[in-house]
Amino acid sequence: MRAAVVVAILGIGMAAGATAAIGTAMPGVPNPQRAHVNWMVKCQGCHRPDGAGSATTAPAMAGQVARLLAVPGGREFLGQVPGVATAALPDDQLAELLNWTLLRFDAQHVPAGFQPYTTDEIRKLREKPLRIEAAATRARLIADLERRGGVEPTEHEKGDVQ
Ligand code: HEC
Repeated sequence: MRAAVVVAILGIGMAAGATAAIGTAMPGVPNPQRAHVNWMVKCQGCHRPDGAGSATTAPAMAGQVARLLAVPGGREFLGQVPGVATAALPDDQLAELLNWTLLRFDAQHVPAGFQPYTTDEIRKLREKPLRIEAAATRARLIADLERRGGVEPTEHEKGDVQ
């Protein structure tokens, strides 16, 4: 019984340590807990809690979203896509949330030397949000990505999602 309590306490301590480690490992994310809450409130309805997306709602973030940083125009696209640019969040929290989204769901594709989005950069990008043309812009970027790296289209890209 006592051993179980000790194990439980150790477990909590390790979880807290892990959270702190993630916090320091996320450049451009001053408050990962706040970013996660913002994700839950503003984004996961479409992109799902685990960033998996779905063929009928929105593309996956998980294992994919940061690939777009590798193509010209991709960085701007991520800040101008409607779900991001028009989110009801102040610029600093939106920059934090976008950096968190990239690092939380697709750290493996974040390029070495990635400069996190700043408040100022997000402010400028969201002044010119993509609207109806977002899907076409995205398709062009993904085609460019596939040409460069032979990346397989995802379920979302195979589906006819607008
Ligand atoms: C109403 C559904 C919806 C909501 C809410 C939403 N998105 Fe999206 N998101 C989409 C769709 C659909 C796309 C594909 C581009 C397009 O057609 O707009 C997309 C594209 C993106 C992209 C570009 C990557 C890609 O593969 O296209 C990012 C990054 C992104 N969303 C992040 C977010 C974040 C962060 C939030 C919350 C602030 C959010 N989205 C809220 C539907 C949504």
